[in-house]
Amino acid sequence: MKYRNIVILTGAGISAESGLGTFRGSGGLWEDHRVEDVATPEAFQRDPGLVHRFYNARRRNLGKVKPNAAHIALARLQTGHPGSVILITQNVDDLHERAGSGTLLHMHGELLRARCRACADVFDWPEDMDDGTPCPSCAAMPALRPHIVWFGEMPFHMEEIDAALLETDLFISIGTSGSVYPAAGYVAQIHALGRAHSVELNLEPSEGQSLFAERRYGPATEVVPDYVEEILGGAA
Ligand code: OAD
Repeated sequence: MKYRNIVILTGAGISAESGLGTFRGSGGLWEDHRVEDVATPEAFQRDPGLVHRFYNARRRNLGKVKPNAAHIALARLQTGHPGSVILITQNVDDLHERAGSGTLLHMHGELLRARCRACADVFDWPEDMDDGTPCPSCAAMPALRPHIVWFGEMPFHMEEIDAALLETDLFISIGTSGSVYPAAGYVAQIHALGRAHSVELNLEPSEGQSLFAERRYGPATEVVPDYVEEILGGAA
């Protein structure tokens, strides 16, 4: 086994071929909305109805998409690799879970969960929500919000992620533009520690590309399964 502790960071690019839009690249708009209008605490305070409708649409859309060969290859790596494989995703979709991934940290939250702003409980939430939905725990209303990390909020699992980055000997970044921190800074942390090999798998060079020791460019459904086979076969 060449690598004992593998850490993988994924972004919107891994879900692109499943039919989910990425964030950057289409004039800075996300599903026809400016990020400031739908993905900030201020936007939610200003117009909760718009923000709920936006995330309700994203949540419903999950029913129309399926994991692709890249999600499936990473799940295969998690079961087939004799060491540890920690998967960190910036994505709020559930395609890694549906592909069968086990250890999975959703650092930007999950579309299929809701959080109560009054009691802070978190719930599985496969349906629509709005300001008229009472909290199942404390019955407060309006209180529910998507369990999503908005701009200006602290991502989840930061301590676990930092610990994983300290231990890893192979860091793989997949389908992320490298423009949103703290995830965009992980390759610099790995580089500074000098203990792990780092690989970027993406459609095109990301903003942090020069810090990766190895880079492979192409669609995730091609480059990810190829690289996973190399690791499992002992060639990478
Ligand atoms: P971006 O939309 O910024 O970047 C997606 C990356 O995927 C780009 O570098 C594309 O080149 C690449 N890409 C596109 N199609 C691909 C394919 N078929 N195969 C491989 N790569 C492909 O998405 P993220 O980097 O994930 O945060 O964005 C980071 C965060 O910004 C998101 O989690 C979200 C957003 O604002 C929050 O919502 C908090």
